[in-house]
Amino acid sequence: MRDFIKKLPKAELHLHIEGSLEPELMFELAKRNDIRLNYSSVDEIRAAYNFSNLQDFLDIYYAGAGVLQKEEDFFDLTWAYLKRCKEDNIVHTEIFFDPQTHTDRGISFATAFNGIKRALKKAEDDFQISSEIIMCFLRHLDEKAAFETLEQASEFKDDIIAVGLDSSEVGHPPSKFQRVFEKALGEGYLTVAHAGEEGDPSYIWEALDLLKVKRIDHGVRCLEDKELVARLKEEQIPLTVCPLSNIKLRVFDQMKDHNIKALLDEGLMAMINSDDPSYFGGYLNENYFQVAEALDCSKEEIKQLAMNSFSSSFLSEDKKNIYIQKIKEEL
Ligand code: ADE
Ligand code: ZN
Repeated sequence: MRDFIKKLPKAELHLHIEGSLEPELMFELAKRNDIRLNYSSVDEIRAAYNFSNLQDFLDIYYAGAGVLQKEEDFFDLTWAYLKRCKEDNIVHTEIFFDPQTHTDRGISFATAFNGIKRALKKAEDDFQISSEIIMCFLRHLDEKAAFETLEQASEFKDDIIAVGLDSSEVGHPPSKFQRVFEKALGEGYLTVAHAGEEGDPSYIWEALDLLKVKRIDHGVRCLEDKELVARLKEEQIPLTVCPLSNIKLRVFDQMKDHNIKALLDEGLMAMINSDDPSYFGGYLNENYFQVAEALDCSKEEIKQLAMNSFSSSFLSEDKKNIYIQKIKEEL
């Protein structure tokens, strides 16, 4: 099964680039930028990656991002992820970046964006990996800060396909950002949002109805609401599920309890992603391996997940069909 998974072309649609910062690179960048870390070794950092919920993780994740200072740092971060994409046979990736995590520390939007974009361009040239950038608003911050971020993005608009919503979910419902998303939609951005990771199904309803999202990031709690499942099925709204993340952040106790197969059985458009691979113990293929093993998936189910990754992407219909056809032909 592992070889089979490795061979399949895949798209990744839920990846926070800041969440791909490996401890080794964190150390290297801290040294390069003369920043003091609260850890004395790579092993000590890894040992700290023991989370009891989303907020626990976010506190460490935002602190880790502090080593990213210069355009070159953002390039190195993104390039390291793209090399992993090549290893995992990811041929298309749509990555999130959180501008406010950087602008709030005095790092300009352009510094972060240009470093990320340059690495994506190199991956297109060197590895033929295509990509898109999705800019996320941090939902624990206020609406005004999100409007300011949207304004800062205007210069880079042609290279940003969508806006998203991430960070602490509970207590920060999609409705808080309805007006920002309306403005973004009016400016031609597509929209996505994290919903139903820790938040109840009402967060998913709001993301659909108020933010007009094309995809729900996570969405695993949708199964608690039959009417919502019917809506997601009818409209084939993609759910960008992140299995290892859900285990590490205790959304499910163990992989064998994960509901990704149940989502497929309901006829929902779910697929597998890695979320913050450096923090959650594995990149995309590792997520596939652990799901396949714990849930005893058939090759057909794995193929379905890989095909869904392309169907749910922002690629053209022609490109989607080329990859889907390739997967169909795999035995
Ligand atoms: N930011 C990075 N990873 C996230 C996640 N899994 N949920 C919400 N915000 C995030
Ligand atoms: Zn996420």
